[in-house]
Amino acid sequence: MARNIVLLGAQWGDEGKGKIVDLLTESADAVARFQGGHNAGHTLVINGHKTVLHLVPSGAMREGVECLIGNGVVVDLGQLMKEIRGLEENRVQIRSRLSVSPGCPLIMPYHRALDLAREKASGKRAIGTTGRGIGPCYEDKVARRGIRLMDLANPQVFASRLREVMAYHNHVLVHYLHSDPVDYQSCLEESLRLGEQVLPMMSDVSSKLCDWRDSGKSVIFEGAQGMLLDVDHGSYPYVTSSNTTAAAAAIGTGIGPLDLDFVLGIVKAYTTRVGFGPFPTELFDEVGQRLAERGHEFGATTGRPRRCGWLDVATLRRARQVCGLSALGVTKLDVMDGLDVVKICTGYRSADGTTLELPPYGADEMASCEPVYEELPGWMESSAGCREYGALPTNAKSYLDRLAELVGLPIDIVSTGAERDDTIILRHPFAG
Ligand code: GDP
Ligand code: IMO
Ligand code: MG
Repeated sequence: MARNIVLLGAQWGDEGKGKIVDLLTESADAVARFQGGHNAGHTLVINGHKTVLHLVPSGAMREGVECLIGNGVVVDLGQLMKEIRGLEENRVQIRSRLSVSPGCPLIMPYHRALDLAREKASGKRAIGTTGRGIGPCYEDKVARRGIRLMDLANPQVFASRLREVMAYHNHVLVHYLHSDPVDYQSCLEESLRLGEQVLPMMSDVSSKLCDWRDSGKSVIFEGAQGMLLDVDHGSYPYVTSSNTTAAAAAIGTGIGPLDLDFVLGIVKAYTTRVGFGPFPTELFDEVGQRLAERGHEFGATTGRPRRCGWLDVATLRRARQVCGLSALGVTKLDVMDGLDVVKICTGYRSADGTTLELPPYGADEMASCEPVYEELPGWMESSAGCREYGALPTNAKSYLDRLAELVGLPIDIVSTGAERDDTIILRHPFAG
C-alpha cells in the first residue's frame, strides 16, 4: 500500500533518525527532506561503514531510491556539492536521483558570517547554533529578500539581487556587529559556479510527490532536528529557525496535509541536547557521563559534546500532541545497559508547586521546572545488537512498556546498535 510516512525527532535532535530512515527505505520509493539544512547530521552505519549526511536525504545508500530536497530546506550549495562528491567517491551515485526544489532558499556566505558574528555578540545569551547560517537564511526567506535556487537560472537577475541584499547585510555586519564584510564579487562568482553544478538537479518536488502519490509510490519524509527545536513549539528562543513538527512535511515539500498517512516519532532511550537552553532532566553526575561515553554523544555536525539526561515523558507528550504521532521508534536502548536503576521523568513540578504533565512554553519557565521521576530497575544483561524483541533483557522490556504507557503510544521499532540491522521492527510503518 502506498503510504507517505513522516519520520521525525521527538526530542532535541540526534535521536537516530538517519539510521531508521535508511533502514525503512528498503520498503520505500523515495525520501524527502522538508526543513532544516546542513545543521543536521544524520549517521548511517552499513556493514561497519559510516556515512554522515547533512543535506542529502538518508535514502542515498539504496540504489534506485529517489532523494528529494523540498522547498522548506535551506541549501548551502558548496555543502551540497561536497556531500555529493563524497558519496560518489564511495561509489554512491546520487545526482541522477536527487531533486532539489526551485524554491529552496540558498544559504550564502553572509548568512554564515551573520550567524557567527551574532552568536559572538550575544555572549551569555547565545543559542549555541551550529554556525551554518541557518537562522539568517530563514530570516531572509520570511523577509522576502531571500535568494532561491531558481534565481541562479538567470545570472543577471541573480547578480543584481545579490548586490542589493549584500549591501544590506554588509551594513549590518560592519556597523552593527563590528565584523568583516563579505566580498560581493567572489560570492557572485562562487554561486554561479556552484549553480551550474546544482541547477541540473533542480526539479519540481511538489509535482513529483503528487504524481507518485497517484501512482502508488511510498515516500518517507525525513525530519531534521527534533520537536523541541521547533521555532513555534520548542524551547524558544533556544530552538532552530524552522518548524520541525510533522505539519512542516507538507509545507516544506508542497503536498496537502491529508496526504500524510503516518507519523513516526524517533526517541532516544534517554535524552540529549547540543547547544544551550533548558533541559530539566540533564544529568551532571557519573550516570550522565556514562551515557555520553557509551552513546558516543558528540555532535555529528559540529563535534560538540552533547548534554545527556534521563528520558523525559513530559516533552514526549508535547511531541505526541503537536506532531500527531502515530507511534514511536526507540533508539540507543543498548546505551542504557548496565545501570542499577533507570529513571523516567513523568512530569514536572513548576516553581509554584503545581504538577505539570506537559512542558510550559518558554525557556525560562521550562528551566525553572523540577522533573518528577519514577524509578525502575535497570538491567545488567547486554541488549547491544539484539534483533529480536523476545531476546531483550526483561527489565529493558519493562522500561519500554512503561515508556509506551506513559506517552500513550505504541513502540513500533527498537534500535539496539548503530548498524542498520541492529533493529527490532515490531510493526512496520509501511505495513498499513
Ligand atoms: P540523527 O541526527 O537523528 O540522524 O542522529 P545522529 O546520527 O546525529 O546521532 C545518532 C548517533 O547514534 C549516531 O552516531 C548513530 O550511528 C548512533 N545510533 C543510532 N541508533 C543507535 C542505537 O540503537 N545504538 C547505538 N549505540 N547507537 C546508535
Ligand atoms: P539533527 O538533524 C541536534 C541545534 C543547535 C542549537 C540550535 C540552533 O542531526 O538531529 P541552528 O544552527 O539550527 O540555528 O542551531 O539547534 N541543532 C541541532 N541539535 N541535532 C540537530 O540536527 C541540530 N540542528 C540544530 O545545536 O542548539
Ligand atoms: Mg544528528
